[in-house]
Amino acid sequence: MTTKNKHMILGVVLGNNFGDNPATWRMPNVDPNSFTSIDATVKQVQTAERGGMDFVFLPDRLFMHGNLAFSPPMFNIDPIITLSAVAQATERIGLIGTASTSFTEPYLLARQLKALDIISHGRAGWNAVPSYEPEAFANFGKVLPPREKKYERLHEVIHVVQALWGSWGYEAGQPNQSGMFANPAHIQPVNLQGKHVGARGPLPVPPSEQVQPVIMMPVSSGYGIQAAGMYANLVIGMPSHIEQNRAIRHTVREAAVQAGRDPEEIKFIVFAPFTGFTAEQVADHLQELFEAEAADGFVMNFDDFHTEIEEFVHYVIPILRKRGLFSSGYNGKTLRDHLGVPPQYGVDPRVATSSTGATS
Ligand SMILES: Cc1cc2nc3c(=O)[nH]c(=O)nc-3n(C[C@H](O)[C@H](O)[C@H](O)COP(=O)(O)O)c2cc1C
Repeated sequence: MTTKNKHMILGVVLGNNFGDNPATWRMPNVDPNSFTSIDATVKQVQTAERGGMDFVFLPDRLFMHGNLAFSPPMFNIDPIITLSAVAQATERIGLIGTASTSFTEPYLLARQLKALDIISHGRAGWNAVPSYEPEAFANFGKVLPPREKKYERLHEVIHVVQALWGSWGYEAGQPNQSGMFANPAHIQPVNLQGKHVGARGPLPVPPSEQVQPVIMMPVSSGYGIQAAGMYANLVIGMPSHIEQNRAIRHTVREAAVQAGRDPEEIKFIVFAPFTGFTAEQVADHLQELFEAEAADGFVMNFDDFHTEIEEFVHYVIPILRKRGLFSSGYNGKTLRDHLGVPPQYGVDPRVATSSTGATS
C-alpha cells in the first residue's frame, strides 16, 4: 500500500434527523416530529462517536428546500447552534457546520465559529461555502452575483475571519494572580478592509485547544478549487469513478502547492453510500478508493439515520479496523488531531494575501 495516511478519515453527514431518503420520516420506527429534535441529533452523533468516527458534518441551505406537503425540509435548524448543543453531549467527535460566505459579516462568523471551537474543546470545523441559489440571495434582499464576485467575497471573508481568529495571540498568556489578566501587546486589531467586508478587531476570544477551527470546502468550479488550495484542510467531493476521484484529489493537492502549502495538509474526502450493500461490500468499496489514493477518507451517507449509523458502527467499522484501515479509537482530542492536520494561527503566512482583496 502506498497511501501515506495509514488510516482513512471517516465522517457522517447528518441533516434533518431522518436521513437522505425523503420518505424516511414515514417509517414505523421514526417519530415524524423529530426533525427539530436536538435529542435525536445528539443520539445520532453519540452513535457515530461510539464508533470512533472522526466528525459529523451538517450541510445547510439558506432557503426552504423540499416539497413540504410530502417530505420534511432538507435543512432547517441552524447548524452552528445545533452543534453547540451537540458539543455538550459529546467528547471527541469533530463537529463541522456549514456557514455561507455570501451574507454574514466576518466578525460575526469568526465569533460564532470560535465559540463553537471553545465550547467543544477544539472540535469545530467550518464548511465555508459561497451560496449559489437565487432563493438564498432573495432571503437577504439580494440577487445572485456573478461567480467571480461570489468568490471575491469568499476570499475576503475567509481572510478576515482567520485574521480575527489569530488576533488574540498565544503570547498574551493566561490570567494569573500576578495582576495582569492578559498581555494587551499580543491582542491587536487586524484593521482589514476589502471591497466587500472588513473588520477592525481584535476578537476578544482566546485560542481554542486546536487554536482555531478547521476549514472544509466542497469541490466546485476552478474558483472554488483555487480557494480550497489556499484555505481548506478538508475538501469534500461527490462520489465518482475511481480514476476521476484520483484526478480530483491530485488537482486539490496541486492547488495547495500552488498556494504555497504542503499537500499533506489538505485531505480529500468523498461522500460514500451505505444503503443497498452488505457490510463487506461497503468496506471493500472504501478500501479500494483509499488504497488507490482516490480519497483520504469518506463522509458516509445514510438513508435512515435511526438505524444505519448504528449498523455502520456495528458491522462495517470492525471490518475496517480488522483490515488495519481505520484507527482503533481516538488518538487525540481535537478535530485537527483526528484529521492529522497541523495547527494554524490566524492567516497562513505562506498564502499570498494579494489575491484575497482584503488589505490593511
Ligand atoms: C460535496 C459538496 C457539498 C456542498 N455543500 C454545500 C452546503 O452545505 N451548502 C451550500 O450552500 N452549498 C454547498 N455546496 C455547493 C457549493 O457551495 C458551491 O456553491 C457549488 O458547488 C457551486 O460552486 P461554483 O459556483 O464554484 O460552481 C456543496 C457542493 C459540493 C460539491
